[in-house]
Amino acid sequence: MAELTQPSSAKATAGEMEKLVSLCKRRGFVFPSSEIYGGLAGIYDYGHYGTLLKNNIRDAWWSAMVQYRDDVVGLDSAIFMHPKTWVASGHVGGFNDPQVDCRKCKSRFRADHILEEFGVNIDDKTPVEELNVHLNKLREEKKLKCANCGSTDLTEAKVFSLMVKSNLGSPTDALTEENVVYLRPETCGGIYLEYKNTVDSTRVKLPFGIAQVGKAFRNEIVARQFVFRTREFEQMEMQYFLHPDMMKEKYEMWKETRHKWYLEYGISAEDIRWYQHEKLAHYASEAYDVEYNFKSLGGFKEVEGVHARGNWDLSQHSKFSGVDLSYLDEKTGERFIPHIMETSVGLARLFLMFLDKAFVEEEVKEGETRTVLKLDKRLAPIKVAIFPLMKNKPELVEKARNIFDDLKMKFMCEFDDNGNVGKRYRRQDEIGTPFCVTVDFDTLEDSAVTVRDRDTMQQERIQIYDLESYISNKLNA
Ligand code: GAP
Repeated sequence: MAELTQPSSAKATAGEMEKLVSLCKRRGFVFPSSEIYGGLAGIYDYGHYGTLLKNNIRDAWWSAMVQYRDDVVGLDSAIFMHPKTWVASGHVGGFNDPQVDCRKCKSRFRADHILEEFGVNIDDKTPVEELNVHLNKLREEKKLKCANCGSTDLTEAKVFSLMVKSNLGSPTDALTEENVVYLRPETCGGIYLEYKNTVDSTRVKLPFGIAQVGKAFRNEIVARQFVFRTREFEQMEMQYFLHPDMMKEKYEMWKETRHKWYLEYGISAEDIRWYQHEKLAHYASEAYDVEYNFKSLGGFKEVEGVHARGNWDLSQHSKFSGVDLSYLDEKTGERFIPHIMETSVGLARLFLMFLDKAFVEEEVKEGETRTVLKLDKRLAPIKVAIFPLMKNKPELVEKARNIFDDLKMKFMCEFDDNGNVGKRYRRQDEIGTPFCVTVDFDTLEDSAVTVRDRDTMQQERIQIYDLESYISNKLNA
């Protein structure tokens, strides 16, 4: 049954995803979590290079969203929040997906996705009873089969909460309404709760934004597609507070700002597009997604949302907490609940997007190919690898070590003396290192080293005293 299986374009690129997953494991970017215990579905760990790449993407976002602006401030709010937060936001009771299970192989599917693939028009608010009417009709027509094992024994759709529950307090306390806490399903909740403290403690005036990066948790029914959709993930969100009269202008400004950010980091204009949501979440009045054309996922998929949320969030938190969250415009004397527009992006989705874009297999000479990550140089985990030509020549090793010790104070560097230089180049290509520096016997005479460029594979002789500025200039070119 085609409807429950992957679209054919995705099938065609399954190999691309396998190659990326394999590279990530082999080179220490991403590991399945708890692998020695058999893994935990939808959860991943980031190894050395993965952590460095992820941090660089996060820093690039933070610089653009906070450092280079004077209208956005930062925040790092707690993951646990008062349970009422999620009642007020509508998540408790409302943050659900309808699921269908295969009784035979226990595979799980989202009912709305199944129906959408059969062309049934439904939205977030379609009651589960109505979904079941559609599913039963497909069952009668003998169209409903499990994509995994082909069984027709699929359950009715039932509602499944995406909220992840925990408890605080004494370990012996039962999980009651009073002590249940949720792991936040989105980071913006903390921003709304700290809106008032931010206004009172900083000099911000409307319009202004609060940005934060942090973990979010969702009990996703179908957590597949590697790090694209996981149950624990990092979000980078910015909530911009404004007078409703400014919404249109600022919405356009932020759409343009975010679009430019992707281009600045090497994503081509043809590979991203805007998708306008017709079905809106309960709080949203307008919503666009940035979609990137993933080779590894077989087409355009959401990486970021830009949403106009009206004054829903602050009104609800005002109502549920009893605290006045209105804003007084000192110039006009007007008091009102600020409206919000947000930009919200998953860090792992950007991570996957940059890897997907950067991953290249190219022929270097007849019969020989190399795998190379052509990452934007600023995002590359390691900027410079330093090699002594030969491991068993102490004078070369010492010179290379000295260069490494100097450069590591400026850039993320790696010292590598293992194997022949060709193999070392290939290893660095696979992790996307823009520059490899080799110390050879001539270095001892002329104080120059060979610098090899990852993308062009061209080599240049550079004086050691010029090396730092040479690399700096190239990284920022
Ligand atoms: N505050 C709004 C909000 O959370 P969303 O569309 O649910 O909106 C925003 O999520 C972004 O967070 C998505 O565009 C995606 O990049 C990321 N995201 C959401 N769920 C995710 C998951 N399960 N795994 C990885 N990233 C996720």
